Amino acid sequence: MDLVRLIYASRFSRKAGPEDVQKIVDLSREKNRRLGITGVLCFDPRYFLQCLEGPSEAVNELYNRIIFDYRHTGVRLISYEKADRRRFEKWSMAYVRIDEKVKPILERYSANGFDPYSMDPAQLVDFAAEVAEARAEKGTSVAGGTVVWGSR
Ligand SMILES: Cc1cc2nc3c(=O)[nH]c(=O)nc-3n(C[C@H](O)[C@H](O)[C@H](O)COP(=O)(O)O)c2cc1C
Repeated sequence: MDLVRLIYASRFSRKAGPEDVQKIVDLSREKNRRLGITGVLCFDPRYFLQCLEGPSEAVNELYNRIIFDYRHTGVRLISYEKADRRRFEKWSMAYVRIDEKVKPILERYSANGFDPYSMDPAQLVDFAAEVAEARAEKGTSVAGGTVVWGSR
């Protein structure tokens, strides 16, 4: 398969609310499964960091759609590369809330907290994979206590 991995960072839009994150995750899980896309969405109240991997055509088309989504701004492509294997094969879209629980991991990758625009681009896939492994199956909420974790 013509497998690629794409990573981008963006800022959560002021026009969006916490319920939008839930909607994005729910829809992404369903749609990505159909498209053969796997990945992770990391979020703190300011930033998104998303990794998408799958067939190049599917990833390219999805990214072109995501760029224009009003729920975030300042989308910056961090890397786009051919991949030998998937790093997020367990998740059609893992969701990781960047909070106190991932702080020990974050501190190894960043001296200034979660700012994917200033973190080392070469390390962001490893960071995303590490936080997904650590947190994405243990359950937490996007907002208002709704459990959104899980693989499938
Ligand atoms: C930060 C962010 C991440 C997103 N990630 C995905 C994703 O992984 N998969 C997906 O299908 N849509 C994702 N979306 C939503 C898309 O922008 C789009 O709304 C969705 O694919 C529905 O498009 P459609 O109505 O044209 O089918 C994301 C949106 C945002 C703001």
